[in-house]
Formats: sequence, C-alpha cells, structure tokens
Amino acid sequence: MAPFESVPSVVDALAEHGYIADDRLATTVFLVTRLDKPMLVEGPAGVGKTELAKALAAITGRRLLRLQCYEGQDETKALYEWDYGKQLLYTQILREKISQVVADAPDLPTAVDRIGAQESVFFSERFLAQRPLLEAIRSPEPVVLLIDEVDRADEALEAVLLETLAEYQVSVPEVGTFIATQPPYVVLTSNNTRDLSAALKRRCLHLFLDYPAAARELEIVRSKRTGLPDALAAQLVDVVRGLRDLELRKAPSISETIDWARTLAVLGVTELSASVLSDTASVVVKYDKDLRKTVAALPRLVDPNVEVPERFLGTEHSTQHADRGHGHRHGPGEHSHDESGPGGQRLEDGEVDGRLVRAGKDEPGRHSEDYYSAQESARPQAPPSPPRKVSSDRGSRSFNANFGRRRAL
Ligand SMILES: Nc1ncnc2c1ncn2[C@@H]1O[C@H](COP(=O)(O)OP(=O)(O)OP(=O)(O)O)[C@@H](O)[C@H]1O
Ligand SMILES: [Mg+2]
Repeated sequence: MAPFESVPSVVDALAEHGYIADDRLATTVFLVTRLDKPMLVEGPAGVGKTELAKALAAITGRRLLRLQCYEGQDETKALYEWDYGKQLLYTQILREKISQVVADAPDLPTAVDRIGAQESVFFSERFLAQRPLLEAIRSPEPVVLLIDEVDRADEALEAVLLETLAEYQVSVPEVGTFIATQPPYVVLTSNNTRDLSAALKRRCLHLFLDYPAAARELEIVRSKRTGLPDALAAQLVDVVRGLRDLELRKAPSISETIDWARTLAVLGVTELSASVLSDTASVVVKYDKDLRKTVAALPRLVDPNVEVPERFLGTEHSTQHADRGHGHRHGPGEHSHDESGPGGQRLEDGEVDGRLVRAGKDEPGRHSEDYYSAQESARPQAPPSPPRKVSSDRGSRSFNANFGRRRAL
C-alpha cells in the first residue's frame, strides 16, 4: 500500500521527522514511493542528501540499509562474498568426517571427485556473507537502501548497481537467484565528483539539491532548536549566503549554518556583529585562506554599507580557478566539492591546493554552465581523460575469484 496520499502529506511527514522539504523535493519522494524507481540525489556537500534517505526510512517506518561507496570498492563489498573464515573453521572441525569421505579412495582423482561432490555444503546460504545490496533484496520486510556517494565508486561497480536496480534481483550461481518480494526504496547520492553513466541516470528519478532558499534554510535552522533567537538566525542565514558568494574553497553548507547558530547561542550572543562572527568563523570555514577572506568580508555582510577591498570579493579566486584548470567555476549557490589531501600542490603562498589533487583524479562536474564547451581549455595541467563508457559487459560480474577459492578449498 502506498504510504502517502499526496505531496503535501510527504512534506508534513518529513517535517515531523525534522527534515524540511520544499515541494520539488517532496514530489520526488512521493514518486519514489509510487513508481518503485530509485532516486538519484545530486548536490554539494552538506545540503541534506544523506539525511533525506534517513528521513525517508523514518517516515515510511522502513529499516535503512546503507552502502557507502568508495574508490576501488568491488562488488564483493556491495553484493555478497563467501565467508571464507567460517568455511575454514567448518572444514577444520569436520576434518575427521572429511577424511572418512576420502579414506577408501583408490587414487587422488577419485578423492578430489568425492570432495567436489560435497562442495554445495560449503557454498550454501549458511556461508554467504551478504552485503547491503543482497541484504536489501532478501530482506523479508521492505527497506530503504541508501547508496551513498555513488560517484566515488568505480564504473564497474556502477554497472553492477545498474543491473541490480533494473531487476531488483541478485544471482548467486552456487545458490540461485534472489528476487525482492518488496522492492526497496533506493536513494543514491552523488557529490558530482565525476559524471555518472547515462544509463544509471535514466533509470533514476533525478533530484538536484542545491543550497536552499533563505526562508527554507532559516526554517531548517529553527527546526534544529539551536537556541539562537529567530531574528539573529535570519541574519546569520543571510551572512552564510553571502559567504557562499565569495567562492571559498569550501563553501559553508547547511550543517555549518546550524553549527554556527549553536555556537553563537552557547556564547549568549544577542547581536550579530562582524567581530563576534569573525571570532567564531572557524566553525564554518575550514581553510586558512577562506578564513582570511571571510573575516575581510564579514563587515560588509553584516552591514552592506561598509566598503570592502575588491580583492576579497572572489574575483581573484575565480581567475586562479580558471587558470589552474579545475574546470568547474563556482557561481553563487553552486558547490565546491574540494578536499585537501596529503601531497596536494602548492600555491604561491605555500598553501596546499587539494582541489588540484582532487581534479587530477576526478572528472569535472557537469553542472557548470560552460562545462561542455570549456572542458578542454579549462584543464591545461592534466590532459583530459578519454570519455568513459560503461559497456554492458562491464557490468557482468566475474565469479572467477570465488571459483578459484572454491577449488582451493
Ligand atoms: N532539509 C533539511 N532539513 C533538515 N536538516 C537538514 C536539511 N538539509 C540539511 N540538513 C542538516 O544538514 C546536515 C548535513 O546533511 P547531510 O549529511 O545529509 O548532507 P549531505 O548532502 O549528505 O552532505 P555530504 O555530501 O557531505 O555527505 C544534516 O545533519 C542535517 O542536520
Ligand atoms: Mg552525505
């Protein structure tokens, strides 16, 4: 039975569980519950993608299963693998019994044949270690399956996901095919660090979550009961929105607005001044250079009549950005999906630019307006990688590894 009558009832149910949704978001959730289609949620960090899957589980009373994706992950961590340790333990315990099976075998081939005849005992459901995809398919009660940060996974795994989500079934050659009795509600999230295959997108209902409008962000902050008076919270939301326009290396997200509100409430702040915001700005900006830009811009954000030098307003940053070939120009409200990492390249001022490390690994996102036309010229440092294609055979799962293990047993 469908859990919701209408889109407004989805909005209300989400709000009851602390998730503030607009109609567009609620409509997609409503359709997920009606069409049994997966939902792909894309958007910058901290805009509530993961939280949406949790809220969906809460409002439908379903258990949440989560597959966290990462680079190099293979299907054994997504679907299932054989519990090798348990198999070994059983063979140790049953050593005597196994010896009896081969005791009167006249030669080695006969002994091997007899052991082989027992294989199905060790490759049965008892020894199957199921991972989130298989667990979601096999679950006797319906679940919500969150496939988080799918853009971090390799394309081979993406193809496996595609296969599974197309049929809601998983085949384990040694055991059989498991078919979901109740299709799970599936939420995939992506930070757009690389483009996902068209096939996966076609299969999903797509939702782009950006930073919310001021009114909704304020509603979110209020719903978190941060302790900050409403008038100050409203002012704070405006300041954070102004910071997002600065094109910081890591733009503050909703969760940072909430943290900042809590911080100011704990400090008992009764008036938002540039000085108190500067003292606490490290709650929302996590890079030294961003902090300097933020502190410089705060007087203007608190009081628009204050003059701030042009070089602090982000122009310098966007020029660097294009010159350094990140290929993803951020506009107001767009996200920065950058992280610093060890070995990042150095800027003139000695700061490590993790974006370049990230960009070396990732395909540029497609959300920037000039992505398709400017991709070549925007990435001078690293030659663009050839377009990635997901062919149908890349999704076919190889059981060679299992088979090898099986023979080794
Ligand atoms: N619409 C919303 N209603 C209520 N809280 C929200 C909403 N959007 C975001 N939040 C808050 O923001 C926090 C961050 O959300 P979440 O972890 O889901 O972000 P995300 O988009 O998954 O980020 P990332 O890409 O970094 O994983 C949540 O803990 C939640 O408190
Ligand atoms: Mg998340």
